[in-house]
Amino acid sequence: MESKKLAAEKAVEFVKDGMIVGLGTGSTAYFAIQKIGQKVKEGLSIRAIATSNQSEELAKELGIPLLPFAEIDEIDVTIDGADEVDVNWNLIKGGGGALLREKIVAAATKQLIIIVDESKLVKELGKFPLPVEIIPFGYEMTIRKLQKLGAEPVLRKAGDEVYVTDNGNYIADCHLGSIAQPDELHRMLNLIPGIVDNGLFIDMAAVVIAGYVDGSVRQLEK
Ligand code: A5P
Repeated sequence: MESKKLAAEKAVEFVKDGMIVGLGTGSTAYFAIQKIGQKVKEGLSIRAIATSNQSEELAKELGIPLLPFAEIDEIDVTIDGADEVDVNWNLIKGGGGALLREKIVAAATKQLIIIVDESKLVKELGKFPLPVEIIPFGYEMTIRKLQKLGAEPVLRKAGDEVYVTDNGNYIADCHLGSIAQPDELHRMLNLIPGIVDNGLFIDMAAVVIAGYVDGSVRQLEK
């Protein structure tokens, strides 16, 4: 927990007066939103856009001014977590189910800052099951297509119910083991009708900050 907090608080140093800031989702981004909330109370003047209903609620509670997407052309900085970060800073995201909004926000962002604890740093992506957001209509067929690709998809559940994203979609968690060509897989998956997007974030991270169990925090270099 402490290493996530360390990374999160270091990332918030990138947030400056006047910026539009993307707020990530998950237990690491939570600490960043808390810190931003604290700075806003101390006088920091920013406007934010959230990547999930959960982060939006938290931002409201903390008094962080929010903007609707319609009013935004570009986001200065987004601070978000990840489930895995490889040596090229490609990512797996979506463990918390927010991958689609996270990707839309990341794609509109000048500087995407990824905050993780050291356990998320990997040589090759794929040990963490890759979340794939799929449309409910015909999802059985979409899952069969993923099976044919050897992706070993498992429909995400919330208790006994099918898990539903903030966008009203389902998630198939794909057990790929290792992903040698993430960019190719990303393209291939998104060509399947019924798939909205997948949790691979290729070449999007501008900064990666990692917190370590020994209490240190580092901005990584490629
Ligand atoms: C949310 O859907 C995810 O992309 C998160 O950013 C990711 O799962 C990291 O979450 P934690 O910070 O909780 O590990």
